[in-house]
Amino acid sequence: MDQAKWTAVDEYLCGTLVPADPALDSALAASAQAGLPAINVSPNQGMLLQLIARIHGARRILEIGTLGGYSTIWLARALPADGSLTTLEVNPDYAALAGKNLERAGLTARVTVRVGDAASSLTALAAEQVAPFDLIFIDANKDGCPAYLTGALALSRPGTVIICDNVVREGRVAQAGSRDADVTGVRRYFEMAAADPRLTTTAIQTVGSKGWDGFAISIVSG
Ligand code: DHB
Ligand code: MG
Repeated sequence: MDQAKWTAVDEYLCGTLVPADPALDSALAASAQAGLPAINVSPNQGMLLQLIARIHGARRILEIGTLGGYSTIWLARALPADGSLTTLEVNPDYAALAGKNLERAGLTARVTVRVGDAASSLTALAAEQVAPFDLIFIDANKDGCPAYLTGALALSRPGTVIICDNVVREGRVAQAGSRDADVTGVRRYFEMAAADPRLTTTAIQTVGSKGWDGFAISIVSG
């Protein structure tokens, strides 16, 4: 592994292309201070999410897995003034911290943090008949990925973009016999995506400050 090189390149890219931002910086600092795991997306990944949301013209975004709200801030900043983002978090302490981080970023009006098990929240959102989302970012417990894809599809329309984080897991995703629940969850996600005629999906491996991982991206058709 060339982790030191990957990190050096990410530091170069982020230092060159990603402007320092007090709200994002303090969200990370507050998350570290509170002892949250440092599994937030990297700055250049956050900016990629924001770019995809802007390219897509997303007005309604759903995030599954809030953590401290770092990626939430990146995504919410892609929204037009009348846009909205709903983010699902099972841990009430994480959700409270994310709420503070979003407040510092001036995003409280556009973002709703919904506390609870994400699968249940997805079912509840469907029962509430909320309008479909334009972009859905899945970034929670990886063994839940299959259920989250099902829930995401129920909240989609033709044209919805679904992104799933951490689908390579340092290459472990290629281990067909794996008993790691995270790996089997991601593999099942891929099987479901490949078998679903509504979805066109690809996945890309990434290296960087967060190691060797990757993301999947799908578009929903009619
Ligand atoms: C893990 C989860 C993440 O969302 C991530 O970006 C990296 C790692 C994890 O559960 O290990
Ligand atoms: Mg992730």
